[in-house]
Order: sequence, then structure tokens, then C-alpha cells
Amino acid sequence: MPPHSLLLCLLFLTPASASYTKDGFTYDGFSNGVLRLDGVASIASRALMLTDGVARSVGRAFFGGRFDSISSFSTTFVFVITPPYSDLSAYGLAFTISATTDSLLDALPSQYMGMFNRENVGNVTNRLFAVELDTSQSTEFGDINDNHVGIDVNTLVSINSTPAGYYKPDGTFSDLLLISGKPMQVWVDYDDSSHQVNVSLAPYLEHKPQNPLLSSTVNLTSVLPSSVYVGFASATGTLRSIHRIIGWSFNPNGEAKPLNYSVLSEVIQDVRRDGQSRSHIPKGVLVPVVILSVFITIVIIIALYVYMKKARKSSDWEIDCGSSSFTYKDLAAATNNFSDRMLLGRGGFGKVYKGVLQTSKQNVAIKRVSPESKQGMKEFIAEITILGHLRHRNLVQLLGYSRHKSELLLVYDYMPNGSLDRVLHGQRKQTIDWVQRFNIIKGIASGLCYLHEDWEKVVIHRDIKASNVLLDNEMNGRLGDFGLARLHNHGTDAHTTHLAGTWGYIAPELARLGRATKATDVFAFGVFMLEVACGRRPIQVNDSAGEPVLLTDWVVDAWESGSILRTVDPKLEDYVSEEAELVLKLGLLCSHPVQSARPCMRLVMQYLVKDVLLPDFQPSFLSLTSRDEEFGQHILSCPSVATTITGLSGGR
Ligand SMILES: *[C@@H]1O[C@H](CO)[C@@H](O)[C@H](O)[C@H]1NC(C)=O
Ligand SMILES: *[C@@H]1O[C@H](CO)[C@@H](O)[C@H](O)[C@H]1NC(C)=O
Ligand SMILES: *[C@@H]1O[C@H](CO)[C@@H](O)[C@H](O)[C@H]1NC(C)=O
Ligand SMILES: *[C@@H]1O[C@H](CO)[C@@H](O)[C@H](O)[C@H]1NC(C)=O
Repeated sequence: MPPHSLLLCLLFLTPASASYTKDGFTYDGFSNGVLRLDGVASIASRALMLTDGVARSVGRAFFGGRFDSISSFSTTFVFVITPPYSDLSAYGLAFTISATTDSLLDALPSQYMGMFNRENVGNVTNRLFAVELDTSQSTEFGDINDNHVGIDVNTLVSINSTPAGYYKPDGTFSDLLLISGKPMQVWVDYDDSSHQVNVSLAPYLEHKPQNPLLSSTVNLTSVLPSSVYVGFASATGTLRSIHRIIGWSFNPNGEAKPLNYSVLSEVIQDVRRDGQSRSHIPKGVLVPVVILSVFITIVIIIALYVYMKKARKSSDWEIDCGSSSFTYKDLAAATNNFSDRMLLGRGGFGKVYKGVLQTSKQNVAIKRVSPESKQGMKEFIAEITILGHLRHRNLVQLLGYSRHKSELLLVYDYMPNGSLDRVLHGQRKQTIDWVQRFNIIKGIASGLCYLHEDWEKVVIHRDIKASNVLLDNEMNGRLGDFGLARLHNHGTDAHTTHLAGTWGYIAPELARLGRATKATDVFAFGVFMLEVACGRRPIQVNDSAGEPVLLTDWVVDAWESGSILRTVDPKLEDYVSEEAELVLKLGLLCSHPVQSARPCMRLVMQYLVKDVLLPDFQPSFLSLTSRDEEFGQHILSCPSVATTITGLSGGR
């Protein structure tokens, strides 16, 4: 597969805050759409927020394009670590150069720093170079503080590391505390001929130190392949730290361009303003130690008291969902006592309300579930346990739950822009443009890939459809309502509600055998892609004949008659035809009637970000059944790259 050229990547770029040439790129603050974000990473207040204050999470960000040759590279970036407590934080962040963005997908939080997992740590096939800023160390007694900078090759045991600090111009060494909450700058320089890599650190706005903090010899030619991705990985442990990058400059073959500090200072101010609500004891304020410790003691006593009271109240029924629990009173207050005016909708499980949490003024959606049987409740709790531990920017986040008598209240992020279904098929004239649609498709693919491949367990969503995709305030798609399919099995009106909403997304083998698999999710996702591109429902009644027509058949027909792009939503005034064609063909491939012909979500992601070219195939491929003899030889296997399919169409 030919590597996509850097030119292609230029298409992704929105040059608002980034400039990109063959000499690399510079970000003075960040904006959406330029980076590949993964895990909990997001862009907030123009900063790249790698982790967002959630425990045991991983966040990563890569520059959108791959570099086909890096030699004597140089990079510099400004970061801020906001610790949850003034003297405790975990785990840190790392600048990474890696062979793929994939190998990092199974990475774990905590001491694995979002770069490795238990199996692959130390394996030379990782092909990963990193400079880590480590704030925590995992010991048998738990996580303890650490404060070092290290150079890592394929593993977490650094080939060279040293406590954080910098050499001042007069040659004296000064310590730096990574978790001070203050911005700092890092420089990494590599010389291709001497294989020397230098790492320097300094407080923000200080000059680059003359003497590097760390220097090592690594033959990166032997560690890395010729094509690489550059980015950051970050992880939290039990502590809810926030790791942010404020600015970043990279040059694959020379000195990185300087950052624009006047812009960065603005971003830092925004971030500070943003973080003011989060508790942060300002340093430099002289507080007598005695008063402080008395205060801490009182807080601990109160916390213990509250905790024990709560523990006693709910010990028979505590759900480990990784999220906090709310009191029924809080939620009743948030919804005006579950007033009908706050009702957002209802489903087979109960009702959904909009709420405003009194303390934080945060908008939330509250789902009120009252399952009939004990059995149903048990199943549901299992679902919450999974959902509460899932963190991904394209999933609707479960914030917590509350139990009230036999009732269960689930608290989610509120999604101000409602469901995609309404936007696509609603009465409103205004629709979303192609860039937003393509972005939503990529987002949901990434969320589903996380559910299928990246989390410690496989989560089959079972109910992917436009009405289960909600839009946040930036019009990012977030997959919601999962586990409902399972819940429906135990609910009262399971059959009617389920079938009504989902018919058209059901894979043939699911209808035949009733077994949900990753491939049935992929099928539904394929239909979803077509729905977003065409603005048509999965099953639409044909105007002339009054016959129901499957969206997939309709698109295949158009393709066979010579113009697949004819099916693109006529409401779209403008679209990128190359992307629309990719979405339509990939949608058809995903909803292939034969299960084994569908790609896995990881591969779908690679097609969508144009990492891997979609194989050339003809519409006739879509009507092959597993009984067709030739078919057997041409199935797309995953995770290996799909190339076999080209055989069918005589190659490109
Ligand atoms: C390293 O990874 C490769 C590919 O994943 C695997 O085949 C190999 O067994 C691993 N080696 C070790 C020592 O784990
Ligand atoms: C690393 O630092 C040393 C000492 O300042 C310097 O001589 C060398 O050129 C530097 N190497 C790189 C790649 O910047
Ligand atoms: C660095 O690694 C490359 C590839 O393995 C090798 O060809 C080259 O000789 C190495 N350079 C040195 C100085 O060891
Ligand atoms: C930094 O950015 C500001 C605002 O965009 C611009 O006016 C200024 O010229 C830039 N400074 C440098 C040194 O590029």
C-alpha cells in the first residue's frame, strides 16, 4: 500500500493555529481538526488537554500526517501539569515518535503512561522512542511521587533519566518540580550523524539552556522505521491530574521553529481562568503550617465521617463504576423534582430528564430507570459498571448514578445539540455540512473502535443508529445509549421499541441467529455511514411503488448505474467528492451481507483517516454470498490490511 503523501495531509489542516511546511509544523495553541486525538484527549481553551482530570485514563494526540523521513529532528513544546493536590500527581506525559498510532491503541494508563501494555512493554517490535516527564512511580506500596525526565526506547525503563531541573546560564543547576502547575518548556534535539539526543527543560519564558539536562546516544535509524508519527501520550493513575500541551513545534530535519510566546501566554491565561473552579492551593501564599494541618485534619475527619455514613447506607449496593455517586436529593433538585418541563424523552427503560446540578451548575441528562425484575436490575448494574469505566471523547460520558428505592438514576453529560437523527431527518431546513458529517463519522468510528478493540473487554454496542448518536456543543458525535439492547431483553416492551427503532441496521446473520457480534455492530455502522452521507433513513418507502427500499440497495443501484455520488444528500450544497465516495463505498463494505467480508473497526478507522487505501472493488462484490466459490479466497481479514479484495476487480 503506498504511503499517503504529506500533501494529502495538508488537506486536513485548518491553519488557524498551525503552520505546516516540509520543515515541520508549529502550534501556538491548538484548534480542532488538525490532530488525531485518542482516548480522553481533547482541545479545550486552545490547549491540547491530554488527560482531563479523570482517574486511570489515557489520552494521546498525534500530528495528523506521517513523516516519511526524519533525520536530525528537533522539537520543542510547552506543557502544564495541573496536579489534583499541590504535592501529588500521576502519572505524566511523554513526547513520542512511533511507527504507527495503532501500537499505542492498547496502551494502559498509570505506569504504562499510555504508551505500552503489559504484553508489549520492552518489545523491540514496538518501535517507539519517547521522552517522558514522569511525576509518579509505581511501587508495591502504591504510587509515590517522582519527578524525572527520561529517554525511553521501546520500554519504560529509561535508557537515561535524571531528576527534573535545568542549567542556568551561569552553569548552576536548579531543580524544577514538574507538578508545580507552572508552564515549562522542553526541547528535544537529535543529531543523525552522531546519534546524540539532547533533552532540555526550563521554566516557561526562560531561554533554552546551554547545557542539556539529558544527553544520550541512540541510533534512531535502527529503532524507528522510515515512516513515523509524532505526538504525545499521557496517563493518569488513581489521581486525577490534568496534562496539557500549550504549544508545540516540530521539524523532522532541522531546528524547530520558535514558538510565539505572546500567543502562548494568552492560552496559558485562558487555561488558568478555566481551571479556577478546580481547587488549587496557590503556592507562595504563606499559610502557617499549623493552621494548614489543623484544617487538613478537620477535612479528613469530615471526609471519613461522610464516607462511612455513605458506606453504611449503601454497602449492600455499591456499584464500582469508576464514577461518583449522586444523592437522590441532588438529582431531584437538579430536575425541579423530575418536572415534566425538564423531560427530554422516554424509552423502554423509563424517562430522561435534563438537569442542572446545583453545586457545579453543570448541565446533565438524567435517565430514570425502574426495571421490573431483580434479574433485569442485575444486568443493568453490570452495564453501568462497564460504561462507568469507559472513557472516550466520542462516547457519552456516564458521570455517575444514584439509587433510590428500587429505582436507578443515571447521570450523563448533557448533549446540547440533541441527536444526529433529528439533525439529519428533522423538519429543520438547516443541516450540518460535509465537514461536520465526516467528522461525526470519524468520531463514531473511533468510539466504536475503542469499544471493540481498545478497552480491556470487548463491548458490543448492539444499537448503533443515528438516534443514538448525540452531538456535543462542538458538533462532535458521541455514541450513547449502550447496553440498552441487553436491558431490553429484560424490559417489558422490549420487542416493540427495539425493532421499531433499529430495523434496517440489523445484519442478516443477526436476524437469522440472534447473536450480536463485533461484525453486527460493523454492519450497523456501515448503514449509519450511508445514512449520514445520503441523509436518508435505512429503510425508506419508495414514492412511486410504495415499496420499502433498503438504503444499501439504493446506493448500490446508483453505483451500478454509474454514479454513486448521486446518492449524496441533496441538502448538502458542497462536499468533498473524494471523501463522500470513500464514505459511501466503505459504508457498503461494512454492511456487506457476508459477515467475514466486513472490515474490523480498526481497519475502518485506518480507511477513514486515509492511512490505508480502501481497496478497489466493484458493486458486484457486494452481492457475493458466502456460498460463492470465489468469495472464499477474497475475504477481508482483520487486523491484517485488506489487500486481497483487489483480486476481484483485477487490481488497480
Ligand atoms: C514481541 O512482539 C511480537 C509481535 O507482537 C511478538 O511476536 C513477540 O513474541 C514479542 N516478543 C516478546 C519477547 O514478547
Ligand atoms: C547536545 O549538547 C551538547 C552539549 O551542549 C552539544 O555539544 C551537542 O551539539 C548537542 N547535540 C544536539 C543534537 O543538539
Ligand atoms: C544505525 O542503525 C542503522 C540501521 O540498523 C545501521 O545501518 C547503522 O550502521 C547504525 N549506525 C551506527 C553508527 O551504528
Ligand atoms: C505572534 O502572534 C501574534 C498574534 O498572532 C502576531 O501579531 C505576532 O507577530 C507573532 N509574533 C511572532 C514573533 O511571530
